[in-house]
Amino acid sequence: MKYGRFDNVNKEYVIERPDVPVSWTNYLGVKDMCTVISHNAGGYSFYKTAQYHRITRFRQNGVPLDRPGHYVYLRDDDSGDYWSVSWQPVAKSLDKASYECRHGLSYSKFLCNYDRIRAEQVLFIPVDDDVELWDVRIRNDDSKERKLSVFSYCEFSFHHIDMDNQNLQMSLYAAGSSFEDGIIEYDLFYDPDAYHYFCGGFEPDGFDCVRDRFIGPYRDESNPLAVEEGRCGGSTELGGNHCASLQKKIVLAPGAEARLVFMLGVGRRKKGGEIRRKYSDPSNVDRAFDGLKRYWRTKLEAFQCSTPHEGLDTMVNTWTLYQAETCVVWSRFASFIEVGGRTGLGYRDTAQDTMSVCHTNPAKSRQRIVELLQGQSKDGYGLHLFEPGWFNPAEKSKKPLKSPTVVPQPDSADIFTGLKDVCSDDALWLVATVCEYVKETGDRDFFAETVNFADSGKASVYEHLRRILDFSARQTGPHGVCKGLRADWNDCLNLGGGESALVSFLHYWALNEFLEASEFLGRTKDVKKYSAMAAKVGKVCEEKLWDGEWYIRGITAKGKKIGSRKNAEGRVHLESNAWAVVSGAASADRARKCMDAVDEHLYSPNGIHLVWPSYSKPDDDIGYVTRVYRGIKENGSIFSHPNPWAMIAECRLGRGKKAMKFYDALLPYNHNDRIEIRQAEPYSYCQFVVGRDHPAFGRGRHPWLTGSAGWNYVAATRHILGVRLSFGGLIVDPCVPADWKGFEVNRKWRNADYRIVVKNPDGVEKGVKSMTLNGRPVSGPIPAQKKGTANEIVVVMG
Ligand code: NOJ
Repeated sequence: MKYGRFDNVNKEYVIERPDVPVSWTNYLGVKDMCTVISHNAGGYSFYKTAQYHRITRFRQNGVPLDRPGHYVYLRDDDSGDYWSVSWQPVAKSLDKASYECRHGLSYSKFLCNYDRIRAEQVLFIPVDDDVELWDVRIRNDDSKERKLSVFSYCEFSFHHIDMDNQNLQMSLYAAGSSFEDGIIEYDLFYDPDAYHYFCGGFEPDGFDCVRDRFIGPYRDESNPLAVEEGRCGGSTELGGNHCASLQKKIVLAPGAEARLVFMLGVGRRKKGGEIRRKYSDPSNVDRAFDGLKRYWRTKLEAFQCSTPHEGLDTMVNTWTLYQAETCVVWSRFASFIEVGGRTGLGYRDTAQDTMSVCHTNPAKSRQRIVELLQGQSKDGYGLHLFEPGWFNPAEKSKKPLKSPTVVPQPDSADIFTGLKDVCSDDALWLVATVCEYVKETGDRDFFAETVNFADSGKASVYEHLRRILDFSARQTGPHGVCKGLRADWNDCLNLGGGESALVSFLHYWALNEFLEASEFLGRTKDVKKYSAMAAKVGKVCEEKLWDGEWYIRGITAKGKKIGSRKNAEGRVHLESNAWAVVSGAASADRARKCMDAVDEHLYSPNGIHLVWPSYSKPDDDIGYVTRVYRGIKENGSIFSHPNPWAMIAECRLGRGKKAMKFYDALLPYNHNDRIEIRQAEPYSYCQFVVGRDHPAFGRGRHPWLTGSAGWNYVAATRHILGVRLSFGGLIVDPCVPADWKGFEVNRKWRNADYRIVVKNPDGVEKGVKSMTLNGRPVSGPIPAQKKGTANEIVVVMG
């Protein structure tokens, strides 16, 4: 069963049936203001952080699941009938009304045809203004004149999520609303920075700022009293719950169309006035919308492919990059799942996400890398979850907010809680990310830049990376394998002082990435030192972690191997086997064998399972994973994030057909027509898909903010299509199914264009027979060409 389709021309996903089993979301805002919005216009906005600069409210885990929202109601002032432009909240019968939602790149468009009135509501946040514009058009398709009232509605939130959820005896008296000069202002009495406004590019005929006045008693957003009566109540109050409703009456002749623009913004009434003047001119709204389109077009142009696989083209050229960029900007803080209770950067998540967008967002990548380096201790580990503001002098000097609800703020000294809270993998990811950034930008001086450590002292970026590698070298257990510490990539595998195979493989990988950098920089002493370290780590991996047919996952504090043939449960794990190969630590024979085991034991047509068999009995030596239901999350679901590691491993092995089999199984696009099972968005990777040990096998959960986006993008572009960078230049090394006759990639790199044409006359899966650059034969990496040039690379596989 399907609910929508991809529109590749407009780069939109079109939801044709609004009664999707779960909310299908989108993200508006590319800088500081953000709205998470569902296909039914449910959702919420915040400024910079969903933890303490919330703008509109979200009732998390609510029924229905995405209320309230940013709604527009229409009312026929002759008949009294009313509806909403998005299907929810009024939810007219689908026999009588037709609805469509188009999620585009940082905008969402809601369309409705009801009773011969066509209405459209486009929501977006301009690139350069902290305001959400609601561009509403209403057309009379009737043969007679129609008198309508248009109402906006959104519900304001207390600033801090904790304020919004607790101690209401205090917080309910700390927020107020007022209406003057056509502008609603919402203020939080205790916080001088917390003002928001709402206005329209027209003179309203009515307003309501008090939520309960607009909605009415014993009602909800589906049947607000003000809309039913056709009249806002002109309410404002100091204290209470607040909303933003403006009413505008319109009269439309047959065929006539009205356009109304509403604005929800950050700042005081004065700011609202400036923004109102600007966007009262519809050409400025159009210009802002074009600006947003241009913003994304420029990004997407950095990598476009045309292959025999339409799903791969659709996802790589638009949706997977869009998702990866969203993760870099909003980390893991705001969705309908992560509702903003904790913000800040997840160290490992951001380090990995950033790696995938250095070519489309170098400035943000650099910012994130520096923030992560500032969140690194001088001992070399990363703070698992931290606020970049803790290390930013301007932010630090701000006086802490004295809210009426006490929200504890950690003192600087409390940030370091010691090794017990350190995740063994966190900072290792950053090594490759820094290297990727330099390969992309050519900014080799970045290695020499000085950055503070989180605790004390400062050092060059290069030295930061050395400390990361040295930390892992010190943190080894009795078998010489890296310790698991609090957890490794798998939050739920808590080996309680045991050792993690995955981390040793990651260490080996990071060492090799670093060695490329130190060779490039001519740091011969380091090349020697870290080559020896890598050799030692590689030897431990091969001697201690091989189990006969695949690699183990770790060794508990009590010395028990997990991920071994001898285990009844948790016998084969995906992460250690994929990384044995991706890191290059596994010998050729073992690499093939362990990936064959992954295919045999973990693969399914919905994707690759994280572990098999899943755990059924709690075992605290292994960790929390054993206390999770079978087939869910880390206990045997199809965890999306490590799936692309298996694709990359297959590419290393030269098995293009297998890599594509794995890619196809997980690809959301391929599940578009089986939404009765998958439920989740076909345009976004989910954190996990329920595994075969659970009756809901195949159901996707937790879309959008997941490392799967970045890694799937990396697997498809850099390993399957094989277009990637080294310090020496551009490499084209595809690994594709043998029946691909060829493909093309358009890549922008350091201000030059590269049209890459790959031909596969012999029907091979991997291998390059010849390569030309602008007609001249070349071998090896292609150095950056002159800025502004258009180049053609022709690659013949064989
Ligand atoms: C989600 C977390 O955000 C991520 O850091 C972790 O690696 C995965 N879960 C797996 O546990």
